[in-house]
Amino acid sequence: MCGIVGIIGNRVVSGRIVDALKRLEYRGYDSTGIATLIDGRIERRRAEGKLRSLEARLEREPLDGVIGIGHTRWATHGRPNETNAHPHVTDRLAVVHNGIIENFRQLRDELEGAGARFESDTDTEVVAHLISHAMSAGLDPVAAVTTILPRLRGAFALAILFQGRGDLLIGARRGSPLAVGHGEGEMFLGSDALALAPFTDMITYLDEGDIAVLSQTSLRIIDEAGSEAERPSQQIQTGAFMAEKGNFRHFMAKEIHEQPEVVARTLAHYVDMAEGVTNFPGGEGVDWTKLSRITISACGTAFYAGLVAKYWFERFARIPVEIDVASEFRYRDAPLEENGLMIVVSQSGETADTLASLRYARDNGQTILSVVNVPTSSIARESHAIAPTLAGPEIGVASTKAFTCQLTVLFALAIQAGRARGKLDAAREGALVSALMSVPALMNEAMKREPEIERLARELSKARDVLYLGRGTSYPMALEGALKLKEISYIHAEGYAAGELKHGPIALIDESVPVIVVAPHDEVFEKTISNMQEVAARGGRIILITDAKGAAAAGVETIATLVMPDVDPVVAPIVYALPIQMIAYHTAVFMGKDVDQPRNLAKSVTVE
Ligand code: F6R
Repeated sequence: MCGIVGIIGNRVVSGRIVDALKRLEYRGYDSTGIATLIDGRIERRRAEGKLRSLEARLEREPLDGVIGIGHTRWATHGRPNETNAHPHVTDRLAVVHNGIIENFRQLRDELEGAGARFESDTDTEVVAHLISHAMSAGLDPVAAVTTILPRLRGAFALAILFQGRGDLLIGARRGSPLAVGHGEGEMFLGSDALALAPFTDMITYLDEGDIAVLSQTSLRIIDEAGSEAERPSQQIQTGAFMAEKGNFRHFMAKEIHEQPEVVARTLAHYVDMAEGVTNFPGGEGVDWTKLSRITISACGTAFYAGLVAKYWFERFARIPVEIDVASEFRYRDAPLEENGLMIVVSQSGETADTLASLRYARDNGQTILSVVNVPTSSIARESHAIAPTLAGPEIGVASTKAFTCQLTVLFALAIQAGRARGKLDAAREGALVSALMSVPALMNEAMKREPEIERLARELSKARDVLYLGRGTSYPMALEGALKLKEISYIHAEGYAAGELKHGPIALIDESVPVIVVAPHDEVFEKTISNMQEVAARGGRIILITDAKGAAAAGVETIATLVMPDVDPVVAPIVYALPIQMIAYHTAVFMGKDVDQPRNLAKSVTVE
């Protein structure tokens, strides 16, 4: 994680670095810092906490300089205090880093043995000292960086500023993303193109292992083998404006409310509405007919989208689907069959574990299809085919609209696969497509439950633990509900398959534990209701999310029943995501939590 930015410019840079960091705060917000060159000397300002603390500091102690680097941190090594905030400096250079240097302990011991004095607990500081050390041995900055990078194990993106060198900024990447921006007599480095959007839309993405040597007017790239390399520049369309909250209090609220619109936009990309069939523009690389198996890999909320999709692919296309969280999949040496497809699901397209799973699968002969929200991301660029989610920038740390767009895309792809494999006839495809097309309107209906949910949130805010239950595709929704609640309200919550309750978790039930049951009136409804009865019999306080038929049939006392519109159960997860998100949101807001930037989290998880 962490966001890094660098500007080698022709006018004062500190304000613009702060502006770029604002766009990168989604990558972490434990501490921030900036360094510039003033009369050839490195000057820095750092602050614990969010960017506004650094801004306040800069107001008190402004920083001039037309070349500089900046950082917003998500702590990995060392507490999130000012001493550990980047940039880290020596008497020769300043460096900002995103990623983890895995062998930092060994390098630090070696450097300390050679007389280096460390100020912080970070892994990053070893990079500063290694480069300094190489320069003391007579190497120039570029040679020093090129020499020391092979000694670093792990993932990194770096931006480095050198004392006395107003004409030089060096960037490097391995495992973590880094983009170069081309301006008018100025050049930029940034963790993503969005950060650089106010300055330029002309971007060069660095490849794995690249070193970028920037002056005000030139870019030189040295590849991993030490050779000069060319990388294409491209004009990108990120929109130079920062996503705005509009009339909403939080980005998360705005993003929840945007869902009918963005889901409609996404499904329009995959559905030929006139014909009632699905399309997959750009999907030529995927031959559904030849597949022996699909493997899905993702993290967090994106993983739950994949878990729902497993039900859809198996049901519509009769393809066996294996799914695993990326952090486990990548290390378990999974055997992958010939003619296998890996689907990776990611909002950011930069999640380190998901990217590593992709690379493992690609190296093992799998076709890679990525369902991503950022089409210029590393995951998108390394895939054979991309199925974009058109959710637009998601700023709130808790994923909402990206999730429902992922579900929309995966549903359309499962229909595609079913048709291609001869498992769905035209009538069934038409019925599924029309169920999908009904979703945006039903989401608008579901949104009307918000005032009830707001009242319910007061009750939930008193709970220490909350359980979520569901069966079938409602099981991943129970997992997602629990994740959403715990990540923004800090209330302990767990999701369970409803039938699994009696195998252990039922021991937790008493009157202090609210149990949220996700149960559209589908083919497993009665089974779920039996499990709900078991909860009620033990004094559990039930909140039931169902439809009118389900509410009428449940016959169990609840503290609240949220009645969703009638929805074809097959697309229920996409609609039921809304009350689940709103429950978490309103509970956290009622408790006064920072819902857009919850503690310890970051939006883009580029470390393992
Ligand atoms: C939870 C959440 C995370 C992400 C996960 C994967 O609300 O946002 O669990 O879903 O970190 O991130 P992406 O989708 O960017 O790969």
